[in-house]
Amino acid sequence: MDRRKFLAYSSAGLLASGLARAASAAARPIVPGQQFASTAEGNNGLIGWDEFINRAVAGTKMLKEDRSQSGQDAYLYTIGALASRLGELPDVAPRDFGGLDPAYELNMIFRDAGAPFIVLYWTMEPGAIFPAHCHPGANVCTLCTSGRAIIRNFETVGSAPRCWESTEDEFGVIESRREVLRPGVINTITEFRNNIHRFEAGPKGVAGIDITTGYDEQPKPFSFLKIVNEVTNPNGETNYTGRWVGKDIKQAV
Ligand SMILES: [Fe+2]
Repeated sequence: MDRRKFLAYSSAGLLASGLARAASAAARPIVPGQQFASTAEGNNGLIGWDEFINRAVAGTKMLKEDRSQSGQDAYLYTIGALASRLGELPDVAPRDFGGLDPAYELNMIFRDAGAPFIVLYWTMEPGAIFPAHCHPGANVCTLCTSGRAIIRNFETVGSAPRCWESTEDEFGVIESRREVLRPGVINTITEFRNNIHRFEAGPKGVAGIDITTGYDEQPKPFSFLKIVNEVTNPNGETNYTGRWVGKDIKQAV
């Protein structure tokens, strides 16, 4: 594919229209608290929540030891391979987070001292934006369980301040990935790649789970990222400037 075609296929416009036109072959939505229905042919490859947790915990114990980029990829893809087969979620009542309008809600659905990860369930109202934010010392496997969203990943470039430092300094940011989330789609981020993500819900809203793993005994606080400037050069590459705004979510929307 030549460069011009690639740019056309990766344009924001196509992604946005993809929110409305995404193929009906996508996995079925998961409704928390509802068991998936087995058919005469079996479970169609789906697994239940308990099986997911048991297999994911057992399968990642050794992999968690390797904190390198490739080690975290192996860890996340092991979780993702199981998460993509999920057919059910525990019942959960998500609560407002951040006072946004349209709203973002979330709640914990799994935490266990013997497991390396926690699982959060989140929902977004139609058109809601959950602004860009980082995950210091952590990786995340996101699974969309219903609806549609555009997820964008970013990375800092150059000598960016650390996100837990209180600073007004601006720094370079690149968009490293952009895709349409729909049921069954997985998005993974590691400490070192795509570590910042931003969600924009489609016209019918979106829901999903974040399976998050921290590596530090004393976790560093995350920060929202405000994009303060964007410049597209003649080659069609867009470079961004951003600054950390701590937990002040409304500054980052
Ligand atoms: Fe996140």
